[in-house]
Amino acid sequence: MLAVDNLSYSYGKIAVLRQISLEVKEGQITAILGPNGSGKSTLVNNIAGLLTPSAGSIYFKGQDITKLPPHERVKRGISVVPERRRLFDHLTVLENLKAGALTNRANLEGKLEEVYSLLPILKERGRQIVSTMSGGEQQVVALARGLMANPSVLILDEPLLGVQPSIVSDLIQDFKKISELGTSILLVEQNFFQVSRIMDWAYIMEHGEVTARGPAKEIIENPAVRTAYLGL
Ligand SMILES: Nc1ncnc2c1ncn2[C@@H]1O[C@H](COP(=O)(O)OP(=O)(O)OP(=O)(O)O)[C@@H](O)[C@H]1O
Ligand SMILES: [Mg+2]
Repeated sequence: MLAVDNLSYSYGKIAVLRQISLEVKEGQITAILGPNGSGKSTLVNNIAGLLTPSAGSIYFKGQDITKLPPHERVKRGISVVPERRRLFDHLTVLENLKAGALTNRANLEGKLEEVYSLLPILKERGRQIVSTMSGGEQQVVALARGLMANPSVLILDEPLLGVQPSIVSDLIQDFKKISELGTSILLVEQNFFQVSRIMDWAYIMEHGEVTARGPAKEIIENPAVRTAYLGL
């Protein structure tokens, strides 16, 4: 449903992404796993339309979207929950959720109900100012805001970053639930162990290149990956 084809990106003269090709299949959780600085967020920003690739293309539902502006991509069904959440910290939970629905104003109340039933912790929190919430709670708000755009693909950039360990499992289960309800997910993370519990397909990214790819089982059993990411 979402495909990146031979995409390269440079910051000035520094090549950060080199000929990346990957695919997010409908109904699946696709993971991109890689260490700090491997180019994950740069890739996400290219898919979101915030950066323009120096080469290569991006396809969504069979159409070339490489040159579309970000809001147009959101309208078509690509919603990004950015790294470090980027919420409106001084606004309430409800105000943040409404901001997520800017491209999808029809049936706002219905969408809110849907998001609340999926993430019930938010139900009583509508009036809470986001900056007063814990990191994990804020991540749930970011997830909910991403869902308010009614996406067919939800892209999560390091959603487990800064989340206390006791909440990480809950978030992982939330991702699973969202996927089972029909939203495809591109999950970009460093936390191999947690993500490996729910991913269907994975790409390993290192120094701006995809160094391994395959179905979850194959990646989890890959000896090089086990050594690098699980210390086994
Ligand atoms: N605006 C920028 N100008 C120049 N170089 C940049 C810029 N943003 C990122 N880079 C460089 O691009 C490389 C990839 O960064 P990127 O943020 O995409 O990695 P990442 O995999 O998301 O890392 P992290 O896990 O820390 O979020 C890094 O070497 C980084 O220093
Ligand atoms: Mg990043």
